[in-house]
Amino acid sequence: MQSCWVIYNGSLTSDKFKDQAELMKEAAERAGVCTELKKNYEVMMNLDTVLENRPDFVIFLDKDILLANFLKNSGIPVFNDPDVIETCDNKAIQYLELSKQGIAMPETIIAPKVYPYFTIKDSGYYEQVLERLGLPMVIKEGHGSFGMKVYLIETEEQFYEKTDELRGIDYVFQKFIATSRGRDIRVNIVGDEIVAAMHRHSETDFRANITNGGVATVIELTDQQKALAIQAAHAVGAEFAGVDLLFGDNEEPLVCEVNAAAHIRNIYNVTGINVADAMISYILRKLG
Ligand SMILES: Nc1ncnc2c1ncn2[C@@H]1O[C@H](COP(=O)(O)OP(=O)(O)O)[C@@H](O)[C@H]1O
Ligand SMILES: [Mg+2]
Repeated sequence: MQSCWVIYNGSLTSDKFKDQAELMKEAAERAGVCTELKKNYEVMMNLDTVLENRPDFVIFLDKDILLANFLKNSGIPVFNDPDVIETCDNKAIQYLELSKQGIAMPETIIAPKVYPYFTIKDSGYYEQVLERLGLPMVIKEGHGSFGMKVYLIETEEQFYEKTDELRGIDYVFQKFIATSRGRDIRVNIVGDEIVAAMHRHSETDFRANITNGGVATVIELTDQQKALAIQAAHAVGAEFAGVDLLFGDNEEPLVCEVNAAAHIRNIYNVTGINVADAMISYILRKLG
């Protein structure tokens, strides 16, 4: 019998992280895999000892990249691969990768690294960004989920306030796709397949995230949306991905972001599809 660990972050106290891990465990056990849920701090990263009771593989639902690498280094297959988790965990790094592969996405400018005790306000840099992207624009911190670190900047005053506040933090400036205000698509991908998709719509916020008040419904994807979502997942090397797509001027899809540890509860509630079933059968096929 195969065995696996499902790792999630134990310091995030919201129930949704545990719930997500439970959904995964149910799917793994349905497939006959002996599964243990583990909080990230329940695995000791001691570099001088051999890891005991090793599982055959790990499903990594956390962003503790050091732990993911630690497990990979001890020879255990980790899904997604730690490199993919690392790329996706920072939106700036992820957009570099997507743009390298020519993926259609909103115009994006990666903010320069500025140490917190310094300001480039008088350098003319910010004026160029304003000139290029115009207002409103979107500012996104490198690390952030559920729409919490994504800001709609409508005035110059907000722009300078935010850029000042973000000194020392990785972030990007992005063209605001007005035709997509309050709506996007979440596409869950496993390997080369689209397993489920939903349309998300918010009446109250420019962000369509469900956690932020968005309401989701089932959607039939166009061929263009399907192709772009798969290309985006492949561009960052993700075997499992939750790709967010925006609607451009002529409804053409644009990639908003790729999530390497996409939550699967909402898509399950909306579509009745437990993406974890597809993930487990993918892993079992791959590991033979
Ligand atoms: N450039 C943009 N133009 C319009 N809406 C956007 C843009 N970027 C993000 N959004 C909206 O904000 C939401 C959150 O952004 P996203 O990049 O997916 O960050 P998070 O990781 O927090 O989900 C998206 O689901 C989308 O509704
Ligand atoms: Mg998102």
